[in-house]
Amino acid sequence: MHRYRQPEPTADQLRMLRQRLGSVHVRQRLGIEHDHAVDLFGHGRLLHPENWLSAQSLLRALTRISGMAALGRPLARRHRVHRRDVGVPGLPLSLDGLSMLHLTDMHLDMAGDTTDALIDSLAGVEADITVMTGDYRARTYGPIDPVLRHMRRLRPHLPGDCFGILGNHDCLAMAPAFEGMGIRMLLNEALSPRDGLHLIGVDDPHYYRVDSLERAMTGLPDGGCRVLLAHSPEIFRQAAHAGIDLMLAGHTHGGQVCLPGGFAMIYDCDCPRRYCRGAWRYREMSGYTSAGCGTSLLDIRFFCPPEIVVHVLRAVDSQ
Ligand SMILES: [Fe+2]
Repeated sequence: MHRYRQPEPTADQLRMLRQRLGSVHVRQRLGIEHDHAVDLFGHGRLLHPENWLSAQSLLRALTRISGMAALGRPLARRHRVHRRDVGVPGLPLSLDGLSMLHLTDMHLDMAGDTTDALIDSLAGVEADITVMTGDYRARTYGPIDPVLRHMRRLRPHLPGDCFGILGNHDCLAMAPAFEGMGIRMLLNEALSPRDGLHLIGVDDPHYYRVDSLERAMTGLPDGGCRVLLAHSPEIFRQAAHAGIDLMLAGHTHGGQVCLPGGFAMIYDCDCPRRYCRGAWRYREMSGYTSAGCGTSLLDIRFFCPPEIVVHVLRAVDSQ
């Protein structure tokens, strides 16, 4: 059982986290992390794919034997790097052209070469700020030392100030460790890295459901533009009605193993398909759900390349 336990923050880290996030959030996060590990290997939800470890092994064996692994593994390391302009109401003219590198679902410890492939693809990618929307670890449980080692190697390749949130594969103990590497984690918190640019980050809304836009946005000044980092797009309605201008998300992997033409067989996301991949819009809010940089469960991709996105923010006339 020991190797499946979730690592816990140290006593000092716990004090800091409670002070910053509130004792209820910390208690919920750590409590659900613990229950998740117990559920997976105890008497939990037997039909969840992650719980069915023998099925995972069988699937991996099948992909190896069928040759799908040999085809799909290289495809999972060939990142599509692209820049896109996005009009953001409220963005001051002085910030027109500000670029934001968006990485998500890196699952850095999935395989020995996952991080190397990402570092190679990031060569020459320029941006003013880096944002990461969760899922740094391959598994949803177990040790975090491997992912911390990989992140230490990746960090020098991330341009500008760096911000992150936690996904459903991550645990709270990773947050102070990442902050020690100069990555500011936003756990139902907000920061303004530039005058007129408010960056808001919520904890995982998919599995942990301990996201609180209300807590994150309390005390934000009026005006400027509001960019939300959320692991999954599932809270798009709440975000739009909270006055978010741009929402950046991941989690879906774009389907990861898709049919020809890129049609996703499954998104594992409780929201309409149009919000599960690429650019979308809901009411006045723009959104982007990245297909992610890495893989989970199976280390392959088909008809769904991993992506590295640079969002170039453009001031728009909101009249
Ligand atoms: Fe993921």
